[in-house]
Amino acid sequence: MRLRLQGPPHAGGPLCGRVRGSPWLCVSSLPTPGGPQGPEGSSPLAPAPAGAAPRPATSGPTPWPLVGNLLQMGSQTHLSLTRLRLPVRLGSLTVVVLSGYTTIRQALVRQGQAFAGRPDLFTFSAVADGTSMTFSEEYGPAWTLHKKLCKHALRTLSRAEPRGSEASCLLEEHVCAEAGGLVDAMRARAAAGGPGGQVLDPARPLVTSVANVVCALCFGKRYDHEDEEFLSVVRVNNEVLRIFAAGNLADFFPVFRYFPSPSLRRMVEHIRRLNGFMERNIQEHVASFDKNSIRDITDALIAQCEERGEDQHGSMLSNTQIIHTVIDIFGAGFDTIIAGLQWSLLYLIKFPDTQARIHQEIDEHIGSARVPRFADKPKMPFTEAFLYEVFRHASYVPLTIPHCTTTNITLNGYFIPKDTCVFINQHQVNHDKGLWGDPDVFRPERFMDPSGRLDKELTEKVLIFGMGKRRCLGDGFARLEMFVFLTTLLRDLRLQKVPGQELDLSAEFGLTMKPRPYLISISSRLRGRLCPTVSAAPWSS
Ligand code: HEM
Repeated sequence: MRLRLQGPPHAGGPLCGRVRGSPWLCVSSLPTPGGPQGPEGSSPLAPAPAGAAPRPATSGPTPWPLVGNLLQMGSQTHLSLTRLRLPVRLGSLTVVVLSGYTTIRQALVRQGQAFAGRPDLFTFSAVADGTSMTFSEEYGPAWTLHKKLCKHALRTLSRAEPRGSEASCLLEEHVCAEAGGLVDAMRARAAAGGPGGQVLDPARPLVTSVANVVCALCFGKRYDHEDEEFLSVVRVNNEVLRIFAAGNLADFFPVFRYFPSPSLRRMVEHIRRLNGFMERNIQEHVASFDKNSIRDITDALIAQCEERGEDQHGSMLSNTQIIHTVIDIFGAGFDTIIAGLQWSLLYLIKFPDTQARIHQEIDEHIGSARVPRFADKPKMPFTEAFLYEVFRHASYVPLTIPHCTTTNITLNGYFIPKDTCVFINQHQVNHDKGLWGDPDVFRPERFMDPSGRLDKELTEKVLIFGMGKRRCLGDGFARLEMFVFLTTLLRDLRLQKVPGQELDLSAEFGLTMKPRPYLISISSRLRGRLCPTVSAAPWSS
């Protein structure tokens, strides 16, 4: 085949959105009148009086020499950012923090183009090496085309024929197969627990099953729950995310780029290993590509390169950039789902009445004679409300990936210069007293209207996938995947708290925050196996 892989075609451009890490950058953050839990709809920015010139960004809490406000962040960065409210300066990087649903919507949707850049952080370039749609591309026509191609590839799989089941599409077939495998793996683990067994740590089987979905999606492969190569890829990915999320000193102090810390060196080494795994898979696909048999997202992306011909869009996006999108999807598509499911199980054992209501909905709408499907989701409003409440209450992606301004812009009367780094505080919106009344209470019913339907106006206010131009590409798929995993587990099993175990809902800050480790006790709801789960997919390697 004639497909060639090469480096990105260009750097720089008219719509460049990059922070240069320069100390001249004005320090700004946007205060919320009424405090961090101010009433919903109240903007964190006071509008400038009519006809008045935009206000320059004000100064924030006193920054320390050299480190700025970095030491004031503590271990719960999202909470500190909410509390500090005012301008923050992290080392040499100045950051505007946006809070409040209305202000975030104004910035990301109404003035979306101006806030759609990504800052030029060192960790971003270490992860992405210039080819990533998520981290390293400047906002502009090439990026817009890239995101479109990426969406198209995901859609191709949601329309592709399943290979060996009654699923509606290949995507659903992968998810149902792994969800079934998860039930089997949990049963096996609990049984291996010895006398008094049925107790297990759900983290490992969850990680393997969800990672297998993304592997199947991206590379058409699944791995055994005990496969060492696979487990090591999963471990390395987790480690990269952990170091990445910890906020690397090199992002805030350019000098550390030249004198890397041990954790930075470790991260770069891990990324090299991960990229090696991806690269091997991509090369195998390029070698065995058959346009009449699209196996997965990598094939769908290769097909797009083939279709566009050698020169079309060539000046904007290289084939390498397009095909490497699979790396963005691989990286984004499993840790977020794993965390969501870990939180879901924790809430289910902490609130058994909620679990009982989901069991009831499963019995009424799915029963025991078939496996749960994507199409069941809209018929099960309480289960959907539960997932929204998990997203809201746990707020486990507290800040989006950092944005940056692509142009000088005035937001609600405040002037923000081009190339300013912008943090979007999703946690603050999800815990805004004015919006939710009792934000700290876990109450899925809040999303149900009096006639028992999902209150769509309220569910829209839950912020976990970002919004606007940089909104998560996989949000629709993520919700479907979590729904099928959850209902498949609960169709077969009852989950319980282990006696004497304290259930802690706090978490350490990270890009994706995981709950602290916990055990669950499981018991079977179905006598025997009335309906086998769809395990061990027929195409598995
Ligand atoms: C519950 C699961 C998930 C959550 C909570 C989540 C959340 C997010 C968030 C907060 C962002 C950043 C938005 C911003 O910068 O403003 C993002 C971006 C992204 N997500 Fe997800 N995500 C999830 C699952 C997925 C899945 C399954 C995929 C792929 C199949 C995916 C693909 C992406 C991509 C490619 C981006 C980058 C978009 C861009 O830069 O324009 N995500 N996600």
